[in-house]
Amino acid sequence: MNKHSNIPGGNERLEIIGGKPLKGSVTVSGAKNAVLKLMTAALLANNRSIIRNVPRIRDVEIMIGVIQGLGAEVSWGDESTLIIKNTGDLGFSAPDELVREMRASAQVMGPLLTKIGRVKLFQPGGDVIGQRPINLHLKGFQALGAELVEEHGYVYLTANKLRGAEIHLDFPSVGATENIMAAAILAEGTTIIRNAAKEPEIIEEQNFYNRLGAKIRGAGTDTIRIEGVTVLNDREIDYTVIPDRIEAGTFMIAAAISGGDVTVGEVIPEHLDALIAKLRETGAEVQVEEDKVRVVAPGKLNAVDVTVLPYPGFPTDLQPQITALLTIANGTSIIVENIYSSRFRYVDELIRMGASIMVESRSAIVRGISSLSGATVLASDIRAAASLVIAGLAAQGRTTVEGLFHLDRGYEKIEQKLTMLGADLRRF
Ligand code: UD1
Repeated sequence: MNKHSNIPGGNERLEIIGGKPLKGSVTVSGAKNAVLKLMTAALLANNRSIIRNVPRIRDVEIMIGVIQGLGAEVSWGDESTLIIKNTGDLGFSAPDELVREMRASAQVMGPLLTKIGRVKLFQPGGDVIGQRPINLHLKGFQALGAELVEEHGYVYLTANKLRGAEIHLDFPSVGATENIMAAAILAEGTTIIRNAAKEPEIIEEQNFYNRLGAKIRGAGTDTIRIEGVTVLNDREIDYTVIPDRIEAGTFMIAAAISGGDVTVGEVIPEHLDALIAKLRETGAEVQVEEDKVRVVAPGKLNAVDVTVLPYPGFPTDLQPQITALLTIANGTSIIVENIYSSRFRYVDELIRMGASIMVESRSAIVRGISSLSGATVLASDIRAAASLVIAGLAAQGRTTVEGLFHLDRGYEKIEQKLTMLGADLRRF
């Protein structure tokens, strides 16, 4: 029994026999990183929120626990529809163990602060991909007039009255942008967030909040304006979430590394522009249609350099996956990670599979080799897990990926989807 034995997927492993080119079509699920925030946004609603295209993944289950812990009623409609209803009496303290398990739980702060003027949160720490402070979130709340006390590992925020403010983020943090945007909704006056994150998921939240009666514009650009309103409307919301661009990208890279021919649908291709450009640079053929992307790989691909940046730059959440691809490309690639301080832990596992990678601070130098060889490897986070699965698809022989619960945090039915594409893999 390991320490994860009580977590679904905690003792499970995936065995992959590599070398099969992936072929066919796959449909991606709804965007995890949008769904999680819409679930916290639903805490502001006066009526029911129906959220469609929700992936059945562990992070969604954790967020259900978080908002139930705060007093929301949550039920599944059909397989991918969540129904959230506020009982009208929200708590102010998210369950510690869930905050510890999933950092995105911190996204309840903005909605709670604006709605009930009070939050207590177990201070989320760093994790395996690096330090992940919430100082920018807290600075933003203070600029809106909230009082902050950090004591005994908890963050306490209180606000009798929030007032609009101009906030310039030191870094375009996704979570800080979202939390400040939410906190400003019922504040008095206008809030302007400058150097805001521009991720597509933030546009989803703007749309959702505006349907509730908020007045937000500018999401998707670096300046977001929130005109505070005194009340939100009483309408029921029925909202369908955008496709998951990171899941889509993971399948596109899997197709490329396996020398396959895969059509990934229903996607919003423009959300994948940075990856499409890089894959084309490697020599893969990428055909873009309205809501599909087809990746055809000619066999051996060429090395490319990748610089990870905030959106619309190359996403950090696809960095481990593209690194796996480049381990067997022709030539040397340099990958620079600008978002997280230590998102190269998985590299040691790829090295176990024969990869030649040298990590120097925030850069990895990958010398392409002719092929990877199957090995037993351990995933340390969700995208590391995806990277190791991708490497296993191309490796000679059997790869066993342990730490599978990380994969289950963010990938819905991944074995089924890969099996349909012709991969040879089994969960034990
Ligand atoms: C979100 C995504 C995550 C993705 C990341 C970057 C969710 C649930 N998660 O995470 O998958 O990898 O965006 O695209 O949507 N930072 C600070 N101070 C802060 C906040 C952030 O220094 O107050 C730093 C972090 O340490 C990190 C960087 O900013 O190095 C990016 O963090 P951020 O954009 O906030 O990511 P998350 O919202 O946590």
